[in-house]
Amino acid sequence: MEAKKSIKWEPEDFELEMNTVWSFPNRGKWATHDAKYRGNWSPYIPRNILLRYSKEEDMVLDQFVGGGTTLVEAKLLNRNIIGVDVNPVALERCKEKCTFEYENCGKVYIKHGDARKLDFVEDESIDLICTHPPYANIIEYSEDIREDLSHCKIKEFLEQMKLVAAECYRVLKKDKFCCILMGDTRQKGCVVPMSFEVMKIFIEAGFTTKEIIIKEQHNCRATGYWKTNSIKYNFLLLAHEYLFVFRK
Ligand SMILES: C[S@@+](CC[C@H](N)C(=O)[O-])C[C@H]1O[C@@H](n2cnc3c(N)ncnc32)[C@H](O)[C@@H]1O
Repeated sequence: MEAKKSIKWEPEDFELEMNTVWSFPNRGKWATHDAKYRGNWSPYIPRNILLRYSKEEDMVLDQFVGGGTTLVEAKLLNRNIIGVDVNPVALERCKEKCTFEYENCGKVYIKHGDARKLDFVEDESIDLICTHPPYANIIEYSEDIREDLSHCKIKEFLEQMKLVAAECYRVLKKDKFCCILMGDTRQKGCVVPMSFEVMKIFIEAGFTTKEIIIKEQHNCRATGYWKTNSIKYNFLLLAHEYLFVFRK
């Protein structure tokens, strides 16, 4: 009989990020993580955020939880977490990813809901927000879920992010942190700095900017079609996102 493969529960030689440029060329393969949920973030990102901005037994929120990367990391690091998504397919994935046994682990609560209206979360009850919204309609996550913000064009998306920022402010405890990963896009050859617009929205909602981190993207290699077009139409491929750390 084939021996059962032993699971690696933690990244090898993990070191906390120390500066404002983060880059994870090997996205991370420990625990139940994989790259199958489209646009999911590397587990190194929530691991760094959780370790720096929360402590054991805190209550964390990821209201755009997708494939559940943040849930797995919170559980392993003994943080309790609420994961919310509008898409039942994502929530099913989250359940699968989190049904492992682990000693001294956090509790995971998975909820179907809308990040703009988290009625089931009390005011000032959350110790850390760690989340990764869709970037307007760059990747569409569903076909016909009306509340899915990945259907919104940029202007509408930014309007809706005002409601998200207000909800973040309402549920977070004072002096605690709200970490949001956002990317930019390009239209008619020019960059649309969506991430800076989102930053302004969070500042207008009452947050202060604790850190602005540049996260390198490794899935946009300049080869073939993109290399040809980058030269032909003279534009640079976007190869970074921003991780904003806001404080209430
Ligand atoms: C970029 S993905 C999150 C990926 C996640 N960080 C991971 O590692 O798997 C964004 C998610 O936001 C969800 N979403 C879109 N609109 C939403 C809304 N109004 N409320 C909650 N979730 C929403 C999408 O269904 C998608 O799963």
